Amino acid sequence: MSSTTTEHQYWEDRSETFDEDTSYIVGEDLNDEIKSWLQNQFTPLDAVLELGCGTGAFSEAVAPLVKDLIATDMSEPMLHQAEAKLGGHRNARFQKQDAYKTSFDEATFDAVLMVNLLHIVHDPAVILEECSRVVRDGGKIVVADITSEGTPLLAGIQLGLRYLRRWGRPPASNRNLSLDELVRLTQEAGFQVKDEVLIGTTVKAACLIGYKQGRPTPDN
Ligand SMILES: C[S@@+](CC[C@H](N)C(=O)[O-])C[C@H]1O[C@@H](n2cnc3c(N)ncnc32)[C@H](O)[C@@H]1O
Repeated sequence: MSSTTTEHQYWEDRSETFDEDTSYIVGEDLNDEIKSWLQNQFTPLDAVLELGCGTGAFSEAVAPLVKDLIATDMSEPMLHQAEAKLGGHRNARFQKQDAYKTSFDEATFDAVLMVNLLHIVHDPAVILEECSRVVRDGGKIVVADITSEGTPLLAGIQLGLRYLRRWGRPPASNRNLSLDELVRLTQEAGFQVKDEVLIGTTVKAACLIGYKQGRPTPDN
């Protein structure tokens, strides 16, 4: 299955004000906490693929920590903003890629990164399979997704209202993914989850890191 038009079109239509809107809707605190968590998940030897990078808010935090970063998205306006933001990082490149089916060879990367992608797509399992395809055996998957899990009721309602005010109704593909669901989906794609955590004080993000395991070959 590949990307549906509406899935990324919805975000493309909001690309010009995406950073400002995210800051209003989610708050800078959660984004800062996600960035701090990400800082501990990479090494300077990692060749990293980011899927659904948007305007590059998290690419900017990761690029200085790794050997190479290819930041990808389906939306060109989003990629243009990411490129402008990361202009100073010579190890960062930007490409239009569909997270459901990228053009990269198998086992190309040491790590794949996705922030706020899996909860906005209609079929996260297919994207996780694609991550498993392009990561080498023993390589990493690093995921962070905003979730309503653990968010106090009032804070959740206020977040929903801020979202509606800025972005209107969410696309039909949007869903809430709990940390357990993210872990299960990631394991089903062939990764061993080593660390899983809910971060954030009021609004939360479900974060995990997993390692790709070689899959047993089926008996003949
Ligand atoms: C909610 S935004 C998150 C952006 C960024 N990761 C962040 O957290 O600030 C989701 C991004 O995923 C992109 N996207 C949606 N479907 C995609 C697909 N199938 N392949 C690649 N990118 C996709 C959208 O264009 C958008 O930039």
